Amino acid sequence: MKRRSIITVLVAAGAVLAAGVLFSATADAATTLGASAAQSGRYFGAAIAAGRLSDGTYTGILNREFNAVTPENEMKWDATEPSQGSFSYGNGDRILNQGISMGAKVRGHALLWHAQQPGWAQSLAGSALRNAAINHVTQVATHYKGKIYAWDVVNEAFADGGGGGRRDSNLQRTGNDWIEAAFKAARAADPAAKLCYNDYNTDGVNAKSTGVLNMVKDFKARGVPIDCVGFQSHLGTTIPGDYQANLQRFADAGVDVQITELDVAQGNNQAGIYATVTKACMAVSRCTGITVWGIRDSDSWRTGENPLLFDNSGNKKAAYTSVLNALNAGGSTTPTTPATTPTTTPTTPSTGGGCSASTSLNSWNGGYVATVRVAAGSAAVNGWTVTMALPSGSAITGAWSATNSGTSGTVSFRNVSYNGSIAAGGYTEFGFQGTGAGPTATPTCSAG
Ligand code: G3I
Repeated sequence: MKRRSIITVLVAAGAVLAAGVLFSATADAATTLGASAAQSGRYFGAAIAAGRLSDGTYTGILNREFNAVTPENEMKWDATEPSQGSFSYGNGDRILNQGISMGAKVRGHALLWHAQQPGWAQSLAGSALRNAAINHVTQVATHYKGKIYAWDVVNEAFADGGGGGRRDSNLQRTGNDWIEAAFKAARAADPAAKLCYNDYNTDGVNAKSTGVLNMVKDFKARGVPIDCVGFQSHLGTTIPGDYQANLQRFADAGVDVQITELDVAQGNNQAGIYATVTKACMAVSRCTGITVWGIRDSDSWRTGENPLLFDNSGNKKAAYTSVLNALNAGGSTTPTTPATTPTTTPTTPSTGGGCSASTSLNSWNGGYVATVRVAAGSAAVNGWTVTMALPSGSAITGAWSATNSGTSGTVSFRNVSYNGSIAAGGYTEFGFQGTGAGPTATPTCSAG
């Protein structure tokens, strides 16, 4: 009964909000994937390859349709540090620059992974490998500092099968704390980037995804920085029935969720499965975006399975239309306000073209990490400032995705270049860490 009454309230609230934005959303139903996703403050991205950027059909679709990019291979360890201590960023920078030229978000993929390691790293072990791995994280995250929306800090570290434990690998054999060491090094190197854990076969509620969720909860409880979890979603001809519920349980644990490598076997329900994934993301307020793992079927790593949204000639497939429709439908009916995020404090009601802010706190004895969500009201926001009072003795030691004025007492945070514009009904987030007790007072937000 309690569950039903909560749902009733949310549905009622959704109806009110939908009524407020439905007219303009319908009138402006977007015609590309990126623009449709942006209506709800989300992104729709593609994994791209530097070697294909000279293909005009490929870049034509890329520039037209997507507002996020992920390097398919170019930022991996073997590509960026081919010999120890010698870094190579040419192709990674090509992807970055392509993303910047599009005004797109760039997802960094992937700082540490058991696969695609350079040969020299494969032959290391123990503290030599641990030191090399953490140095790699620091160097690469520093090279791309301030440019990356979200890093897959660690990729595919959990084992398949029923145990829910870690995968054996040379990295795992350096000690179970290798993942948190990597996240801490990434945060120190690039405080503005969201830090994600990314994996496959975690797309439904199962032992592997539960193992990852337990790690997230443990990190949150101990103040280890983690902001997001990536669900690769390399799908066959079926999709787990609890796909959305699985995303939601991670969101409820206090992290953003992202669909990071989506592709679906051609089968007889490809368009339906793509729609189900898209609707699930739209229904989870902390699902910030979707990335497909390639553009045309001929660009896919899954040779012969035709798993993408465009055919070999670059024509839109039925799956494309189902995704676009789901993005447009969700954009008008699924508000991405923090109201359904249980860890946030109550939101200041927003009026007209203004903005509101709410804080979620992860604190421990002597310190805290605060995540602040800045939400636009019924009109788009161009530039924002959030002000809040810190408790006596509290001092900010670092901020990301915002520039702070002051470190104690009453402090304010100004948007940075890439997150000042928030679509009507959309939101962005920034964070800061500090010593002492974290803020508990409701922050104020002013737009403009
Ligand atoms: O670039 C070389 C080329 O010079 C050489 O001639 C050729 C010979 O095999 O290999 C080329 O490199 C290949 C590279 O893709 C670029 O095409 C590698 O062999 C090949 O192993 C590599 O495959 C990539 C794979 O990760 C490696 O594990 C795929 O492109 C890439 O799509 C795939 O992506 C992964 C994600 O990172 C993590 N999740 C799973 C996903 C799919 O496997």
